[in-house]
Amino acid sequence: AIDLSATIGNETFQHPLINAAGVWDETATEMNAVLASDAGGLTTKSATLAPRAGNPQPRYFDTDLGSINSMGLPNQGLAYYLDFIANTDTNKPIDLSVTGTKMADQIDALKQIQASDFAGLCELNLSCPNVVGKPQIGYDLEATKEILDRVFAFYTKPLGVKLPPYFDLQQYDAMAEILNQYPLTYINAINSVGNGLVVDPETERVIIKPKGGFGGIGGKYIKPVALANVRAFRQRLRPEIKIIGTGGVTTGTDVFELILCGADIVELGTVVMQEGLDAFARINQELADLMAAKGYQNLADFRGHLQEYD
Ligand code: DOR
Repeated sequence: AIDLSATIGNETFQHPLINAAGVWDETATEMNAVLASDAGGLTTKSATLAPRAGNPQPRYFDTDLGSINSMGLPNQGLAYYLDFIANTDTNKPIDLSVTGTKMADQIDALKQIQASDFAGLCELNLSCPNVVGKPQIGYDLEATKEILDRVFAFYTKPLGVKLPPYFDLQQYDAMAEILNQYPLTYINAINSVGNGLVVDPETERVIIKPKGGFGGIGGKYIKPVALANVRAFRQRLRPEIKIIGTGGVTTGTDVFELILCGADIVELGTVVMQEGLDAFARINQELADLMAAKGYQNLADFRGHLQEYD
């Protein structure tokens, strides 16, 4: 029989597909639906200390090849997600995503998590592209170092970081050198490709309202960027640092490719927005069928085994 399980930190996922942060995970109703689906676990919407309404509408749009969003971190506030997790009975791992619009707030949020009973995976989002006037921390090497220094001065629970996509091999070298200095449990590559633009030729207008139409691109457009980021970090990070691969998955073959590049588990974003939670069962089955056809029984049989030309 085919075994699709995978582990990150102390958590075992019976299936390697979970929702990407920000997808079907803002309210208890949505999060319970993810847990009741064929997802292997749940990621919660990136929480800020206080609840946020997010950016003005329209702020999300689907296209044939993916999506653009400028949600602006609408969320119920950190206490809501800690409370949800504390009161939810599930065998599935829950990954608590956390962020802030200022570094001091991100530190305070992690202090609250450190002081709480929560002992699961936590994902520090260093890559939201949609807060007006706030650059993505993950594109600033000094700021990345500073926040990780400050976090690991007190934080002792399993922690991952959500990274923006990088595009130059020198950027991978520089980021991996920094990340390797910290006791990170995992990285998640990639967040949306920030500040893309979708244009409506009929109305001759941008398609979403915030930031003059600029927003994060997800879906099929970004799969090669996700594959490259997972591969490049797997080649550079200490082997103890696991990788969640996110970006552009719509089929079991896409999941297979991300795991070949080194992903431990894989997240679904735009495809769940477009197809709903049934995407988990479909893509799990496609992955299992592909593994059976190739004679693989475990994800470890092919994880990271991508070949190159001589
Ligand atoms: O594409 C994204 N949208 N990435 C994030 O990290 C946050 C989210 C939002 O709320 O804007």
